[in-house]
Amino acid sequence: MERFRFQAKLFPTDPDCQPMSEKKIQRVTAPRLVRMKQNGERITMLTAYDFGMATLLDESGVDVLLVGDSLAMVVQGAENTLPVTLDEMIYHGRLVARAAKRAMVVVDLPFPENHLGAQHAVASAARVIKESGAHGVKLEGGADQAEVISAIVAAGIPVMAHVGLRPQSVHVMGGYKVERDGARVLRDALAAQEAGAFSVVLECVPRDDAEKVSRELKIPTFGIGAGNGCDGQVLVIHDLLGMTSGYVPSFVQQYAQLGDTIRESVTRWCTDVRSGKFPDKEHSF
Ligand code: KIV
Repeated sequence: MERFRFQAKLFPTDPDCQPMSEKKIQRVTAPRLVRMKQNGERITMLTAYDFGMATLLDESGVDVLLVGDSLAMVVQGAENTLPVTLDEMIYHGRLVARAAKRAMVVVDLPFPENHLGAQHAVASAARVIKESGAHGVKLEGGADQAEVISAIVAAGIPVMAHVGLRPQSVHVMGGYKVERDGARVLRDALAAQEAGAFSVVLECVPRDDAEKVSRELKIPTFGIGAGNGCDGQVLVIHDLLGMTSGYVPSFVQQYAQLGDTIRESVTRWCTDVRSGKFPDKEHSF
């Protein structure tokens, strides 16, 4: 009941979110996200990789929880997103889907699942949905992935495309670079929409190009390093909360410094344990 009241406070005008009733919270769905774009409502998406964080983000009213393959870097400590496996994505997807009561949960298809033919991609996407309980998949690509996108959608699985900078192609690009070819971004986004994608991530795209793409598309765009003209925004949660110990991309605004808070708290606890100050009487039976 507490949770219903909390959600009602966050979404006071949402008829699906009644204050006192036992009415179930309405899940955010792919068609609902398209309606949000039509209504001019901005959409929020954050990455999540485990039950605890996903619960907090869902309770905070985030519309979409993305189990991004960025987990290879921020959870597994890899140098790029390439090593994470389909089984690992499914495992983390399951933890997040278990937590999300309202948010739509989308899981990344990891490299190279969508490059091994449409049939293989459908089988991988189906495993994600069946074994994790997520509600959709994301894949990197636009025009080059049109056939794959339409095959997955034909199997009944919502697809979010990802164009502009494609982190899985880091070795071809020779690093992470802003995508300056606006015509290519537009072509890719339109091809993804035509193939049946319900939304598109625009990563590291100049703001004017991203705004133009967002105006041209009927489906919502999620920007990351793509300015304010997108229909929604997405960030890696570790970046937003200051939980990374290294490089933070210039497009990230940090809303907390949880890394510092954790280090300070744990250092104090270690000191108290070593000096015999913790546990005191109050924290003992
Ligand atoms: O893997 C990821 O977290 C992503 C987002 C940054 C869009 O693809």
